[in-house]
Amino acid sequence: MYHLECIECHKKYRPSDVIYTCTCGGLLDIIYDYSNIHITKNDLKGPLSVWKYRALLPVGREPVSLKEGGTPLYRVDRLAKSMGLKDVYVKHEGMNPTGSFKDRGMTVGVTKALELGMKTVACASTGNTSASLAVYGARAGVPAVVLLPSGKVALGKLAQALMHGAKVLSIRGNFDDALKLVRDLCDKEGFYLLNSVNPYRLEGQKTIAFEIADQLGWKAPDRLVLPVGNAGNITAIYKGFREFKHLGIIDSIPKMTGIQAEGASPIVRAIKNEAAAITPEGKPETVATAIRIGNPVNAIKALAAIRGSGGTAETVSDEEIIHAQQELASLEGIGVEPASASSIAGLRKLVEAGVIGKDECVVCVTTGHLLKDSEHVLAVCPKPIEIDATIEAVRKAVFQND
Ligand code: F0G
Repeated sequence: MYHLECIECHKKYRPSDVIYTCTCGGLLDIIYDYSNIHITKNDLKGPLSVWKYRALLPVGREPVSLKEGGTPLYRVDRLAKSMGLKDVYVKHEGMNPTGSFKDRGMTVGVTKALELGMKTVACASTGNTSASLAVYGARAGVPAVVLLPSGKVALGKLAQALMHGAKVLSIRGNFDDALKLVRDLCDKEGFYLLNSVNPYRLEGQKTIAFEIADQLGWKAPDRLVLPVGNAGNITAIYKGFREFKHLGIIDSIPKMTGIQAEGASPIVRAIKNEAAAITPEGKPETVATAIRIGNPVNAIKALAAIRGSGGTAETVSDEEIIHAQQELASLEGIGVEPASASSIAGLRKLVEAGVIGKDECVVCVTTGHLLKDSEHVLAVCPKPIEIDATIEAVRKAVFQND
């Protein structure tokens, strides 16, 4: 039904192989025998969910699931108008079971871990991946080990990893250091690596594209804008759109547009410099801790997605991210974490620069929920007004001009 294949040397591997990258070092892709997959729009009726697309997912056994996917696609007319656009949507991935898009990859990845008979699952994370792995590990009854950059993980994410019983290791180093370490740990101890270098994760995440196409009435938008960190999600969503096009379900692919924070932007630099590969950044820094990554493991695939779709990449400042987060929250009622708001900030910047046209149909993916990072919210929003418990004090405070 499918095999794994190196994107560099095209060496093939079997579904029963426990392997993350090719022996040549190249990233792996999962390739199906599409001539044996016959899916039509008619087969895809019914409520949205990751496992609705199981004909295009690489696992055979009963899934480890908490009902992930089926996230809302909101039309955001007020926000669109403020940018001079007409047709803008937000795909709010914060509405997944653990509050981020990672659940789509983890339901598939942890199910695959069971299929392969793996006894422990592990990852490095800026927070959301660890929360999701802890949850799906618990659901599967498999121990999880997570490596986090010390002091740089939003508290909501840390709380999830701790409460769901993962072994949580706080590394004195950044995400890139933690990823290197966990890859080594998995090789030495036989733990199953569930970072997005594992192609099974990306298979789950590609269902974001399937759902968007369905929610838009079997159409792809002109452009997809999303935050980029380790560069798995942009790769996964591109693959999803390509598969639907290949199967004749949609007839175009959106321009994949990746947004990074100014302080952590190796992909953007490679796109702007027309470089074949990225130059890693040693000291990534941004308020959007989820995408505080200097050496994205899926960079080669992400560059291909951006270039292959005629998309682009842009940076946004921390100020622009915070402004966009507040704007989306107050103008549209959609609460997202800082990394997710970078997609909105990037959209505004690219519209103002004339790169994104006013008539384009744009979908921004907001990857994580506001409550993931409430510490940040308290730091950037005005403090609650403390008053005496009297109606006079309440009225005074309500009508006071600030
Ligand atoms: N947005 C959020 C909220 C994230 O948590 C991440 C990645 C991204 C965007 C970027 O996605 O890595 O596929 O390009 N978070 C990872 C983690 C790195 O460990 O939770 P990407």
